Amino acid sequence: MPQISKKAVDIPASPIRKLTPYANNAKKAGRKVYHLNIGQPDIETPQVVTDAIKGFDHKVLEYSPSEGFESYRSKLAGYYKSKNIPVNPEDIITTVGGSEALVFGFMTTCNPGDEIIIPEPFYANYNGFATFAGITVVPVTAKIENGFALPSVDEFEKKITSKTKAILICNPGNPTGYLYTKSELEQLKEVVLKHDLFLFADEVYREFCYEDTQPYSVLNLSGLENHAILIDSVSKRYSMCGARIGALISKNKEVISSALKFAQARLSPPTIEQIAAEAALNTPLSYFDDVKKEYVTRRDILVDGLNNIPGVFCPKPSGAFYAVAKFPIDDADKFCQWLLEEFSYDNQTVMMAPATGFYATPDTGNNQVRLAYVLNQESLKNAVKCLDEALKIYPGRVD
Ligand SMILES: Cc1ncc(COP(=O)(O)O)c(C=O)c1O
Repeated sequence: MPQISKKAVDIPASPIRKLTPYANNAKKAGRKVYHLNIGQPDIETPQVVTDAIKGFDHKVLEYSPSEGFESYRSKLAGYYKSKNIPVNPEDIITTVGGSEALVFGFMTTCNPGDEIIIPEPFYANYNGFATFAGITVVPVTAKIENGFALPSVDEFEKKITSKTKAILICNPGNPTGYLYTKSELEQLKEVVLKHDLFLFADEVYREFCYEDTQPYSVLNLSGLENHAILIDSVSKRYSMCGARIGALISKNKEVISSALKFAQARLSPPTIEQIAAEAALNTPLSYFDDVKKEYVTRRDILVDGLNNIPGVFCPKPSGAFYAVAKFPIDDADKFCQWLLEEFSYDNQTVMMAPATGFYATPDTGNNQVRLAYVLNQESLKNAVKCLDEALKIYPGRVD
């Protein structure tokens, strides 16, 4: 049989979905499974979006320009300006989700064998995108004890080699929900300027910030115009994950003109969904107020509930809709599987993502899990109750 590629062997399977067969078996056996493992929001997509899709009446479903429709990029630039983020239409390439923006960004800035430093735990698909581009992810560990704050400049500098091309942060973070302060971003700015690196900021959760502190964009860092690359997406912002519309944004003209060549090679982003994403920019601001209020309530139910369980520690996230918690357990992979295979409380159980898949350093985060609070309040309360009961009888409990 012909051999598949090394990249095909190396690319990791999704840590979020690997327990799915066990969840399916639990459901077949008649148990209710609360899915805290995956970031698919249950919030309704704004009606302006669905109306725009229903109203599509072009006679031919044509390609769009490779960089995306001019009308969409102009209006999107207006969205950033309304957030005091200086973006012009020509700084934007419309992509197939934030995912493609990350792939284009890596391909544009890194050669095979280059390294990119990422604070861990990080969004696990960064590993996959790095495999596409043949680059190596070098982790810097953020600690649960201090809520996953940015590791010190020293920690970053220890990891910089002649192959380092970029640092990537996710702000606010998936899986941690941590929101970087302006001062933390200023520290990163010093590092990237000193070592002449690119700084990628994945800001797809910008609209999901819950404290009084406003999110600070990488594009607000003055003097970093040639270094900063913003990754964005409509997936979470407007609860339209299936639209597959994102953006790669930079003031660095060489980055944009080079990324455009990758965009041209894949022809264009989806046409109808761009029209929908343009319509999404008319979403009333009250939509976000309501959504944020709902997520704050959900976060508090989940995080306060977890912290009330003896032996559990969960820092309170300031953004996104995820939390990483430390459990009094031997091994998160085993615990998550046991919940699905063997545990039941009132015929219910919980599915979570073991945090090991979000760390690149081996044997790190073994007793941590990621939970997404994308379920309604009642379900979250039931899920917390299940976890409380599960920890009373889990055979691998460690105190
Ligand atoms: C941090 C982060 N970045 C990027 C993405 C990719 O999203 P999409 O390709 O749907 O825009 C996700 C999706 O969950 C994410 O959590």
